[in-house]
Amino acid sequence: MQMSRSSAIRVVSPDASNTPPQRQPANGSAAVIAEISAGLLAPDAHTSPKFLYDGLGSKLFEAICELPEYYPTRTEAGIFAAHGADMARAIGTGTTMIDLGAGNCAKAASLFPLLQPAQYVPVDISRDFLTEAVGRLQQRFPHIEMTALGLDFSSGFELPDSVRHSRRLFFYPGSSIGNFSPEQATAFLRGLRANAGADGGLLIGVDLIKDSGVLDAAYDDALGVTAAFNLNMLRHLNHLIGADFDVGQWQHRAFFNAAESRIEMHLEARSALTVRWDDGERHFARGERIHTEDSYKYTRQSFVGLLERAGFATAQVWTDPANWFAVIHARVIPD
Ligand code: AVJ
Repeated sequence: MQMSRSSAIRVVSPDASNTPPQRQPANGSAAVIAEISAGLLAPDAHTSPKFLYDGLGSKLFEAICELPEYYPTRTEAGIFAAHGADMARAIGTGTTMIDLGAGNCAKAASLFPLLQPAQYVPVDISRDFLTEAVGRLQQRFPHIEMTALGLDFSSGFELPDSVRHSRRLFFYPGSSIGNFSPEQATAFLRGLRANAGADGGLLIGVDLIKDSGVLDAAYDDALGVTAAFNLNMLRHLNHLIGADFDVGQWQHRAFFNAAESRIEMHLEARSALTVRWDDGERHFARGERIHTEDSYKYTRQSFVGLLERAGFATAQVWTDPANWFAVIHARVIPD
């Protein structure tokens, strides 16, 4: 449609002005404010990827999973669809299935008909979301005992007595393990092993190293959904620490760092600027970055080695035809 100059209507709302956002009071806990401040004040400014997930961030991540460039979600789903029966034969029915970062529980639920766990224990930091999802799931699978745990398991955890001890199977799909460095991942998996018992196991999804063009596109898509996901963290930080980040002054950067075998996401200042928050401020030069996420990629061999150092023996590996993603079943190596 062509619009003539005279018919153009200029709507001016307070939100559309050019002034940076006004600082609001900080809404995060003292610990969260301290954690974020320390990261922003470090010589190489950084923030934890967990701050990507406020309400809008979680929705943007769901949208990422629909993007043609973002292959991990659909590739892993394809592996479950093609090899679920084989997985069930290897793992057996009647396990205590502990789902780490369960979210809407959809991935685990897709395996229930084959895996038939005796007890399902979804764990997620977002308790309310989880309680709702589990309520619906219990209706569909009345024979599976369900015990939802609303907790942050990333820094280690104790399972309550309501979780059965026999044949624990930790389910950790989606390559979420990629947010940890290899050293952190090894320590995290050691912690799982300590909670698993001698007859315990692990079913884990791992993203594999591939052509860097494919990797770069998966984290810098044409529609800009990943850019929005990354930039949205600044709005979340404004809310948590009472900062005055102006989203328009920042730019999404994502690329594969081959030397470190990881995708890095950063937010880059488009011009020299100063950010102020609850109890601090920092100047950023033009082009200076905040490192917001790492997503480590492995070879099949390198991840099997990592599992071994964590006390797990790899039993079986399933991949897609292009070898882009792996689902690995591993068993606890007894002491
Ligand atoms: C949720 C950590 C598996 O690393 O691929 C997606 C997060 N970041 N696009 C990933 C993410 C940008 C995702 N994980």
